[in-house]
Amino acid sequence: MSIDLLNQTLYEKPSTVKEYICTQKYLWIEEKTIFEKYEQHIKDKAILDVGCGGGRTAIALSELTPNYTGIDYSLEMVKACQKWHSSLNFLHGDASDMHMFDAESFDFIIFSFNGIDCMSHEKRIKTLEEIYRVLKSGGIFAFSSHNLDDRKIVTAFNKYDIKRPRSLVKNVLNVMSYLKVRKYQIHADTYEILSDPLAGFGHLTYYIRKQEQVKQLVNVGFQNIAILNRQAQFVDVDSLDRDSEWLHYICQKPMSKANVKSRCQ
Ligand SMILES: C[S@@+](CC[C@H](N)C(=O)[O-])C[C@H]1O[C@@H](n2cnc3c(N)ncnc32)[C@H](O)[C@@H]1O
Repeated sequence: MSIDLLNQTLYEKPSTVKEYICTQKYLWIEEKTIFEKYEQHIKDKAILDVGCGGGRTAIALSELTPNYTGIDYSLEMVKACQKWHSSLNFLHGDASDMHMFDAESFDFIIFSFNGIDCMSHEKRIKTLEEIYRVLKSGGIFAFSSHNLDDRKIVTAFNKYDIKRPRSLVKNVLNVMSYLKVRKYQIHADTYEILSDPLAGFGHLTYYIRKQEQVKQLVNVGFQNIAILNRQAQFVDVDSLDRDSEWLHYICQKPMSKANVKSRCQ
């Protein structure tokens, strides 16, 4: 079993699908801010919703454009989306290998709700490269990711308080899940992969510091990187965000030389 397989298996489970279909309905304030600020890249444009889950962002995005595509590696999530949002286009596929799309296909790509944190480090880098490939020159990529500088890292098991009021059964199940996945935790120099409460600590989540995330994006080729904290305020790359469990990143694929030239004429 690998981190990737472990998390993917979780997203195929009927209970996880039900949770995403039924309880995840509203846009976050950061997402509203992004959709407003980058509207010119979204309105009536080709949009790819990576890791679309139960279709939470599909509803809002498809109101902005008729050209919406959602993709998820969980077949059960895709089937649920096809059932509940039958007029929209949903495909089954892995973000790290989107061979079904030509290069430069989309104007705006989103990977919401920390979906990119479900992967191993190697797969994350491949996914960023793949997103870069299918994004048009000048296009925008927005996503969120867990913040390793968060003072609480509330989600991690090392902060789990066994004395908090919960049933004994729940505590025992959480500890058992944690013991099953803890050998997959990684404490690297630039990121950590930690057990978190999704599925009672059976999920592994990637945490990264803002400066390192920016380096990953720059290495892939992205530019014009903006960062939003949990209050939807734009923050500087060097500030210390101790109170944001995750951060939103917005970045741009550089314009092709041809585009820049035609804009100047
Ligand atoms: C935390 S859920 C978020 C769902 C949805 N985006 C939302 O905001 O409610 C993460 C989603 O990303 C999907 N996912 C994770 N890794 C993926 C990958 N490599 N390719 C495609 N989908 C992936 C999972 O199946 C899951 O549906």
